Amino acid sequence: MPKPQKHVFVCTQARPEGHPRGSCQQKGCAAIAEEFWFQLQGRNLLGPVQLTTTACIGPCGVGPNVLVYPEGVMYSGLKKEDVGTIVEQHLVGGAPVAALLAPPDLWG
Ligand code: FES
Repeated sequence: MPKPQKHVFVCTQARPEGHPRGSCQQKGCAAIAEEFWFQLQGRNLLGPVQLTTTACIGPCGVGPNVLVYPEGVMYSGLKKEDVGTIVEQHLVGGAPVAALLAPPDLWG
């Protein structure tokens, strides 16, 4: 298997209703994961791009969250419509989508 050039991790963590941290599942991550599969498959990018659903990756309050490596870029607050932009501009074009990045103060 050739080494992927990019690895996309989509948080699909669930938590019980009323949990103080909430979860990406409550914020619609399933639609985000499905759209990545649809877009990557449709463009024949599965292989060069590895897609993995994952448990919590940190900032639950601003989800749905997606991490892209090797850059270590985190996208937050995504909507299904944002996925095509990330695929086109970042995964194909190599430039992270600044407008969709997690807030910089997350890492303070
Ligand atoms: S639940 Fe998705 S980042 Fe924590």
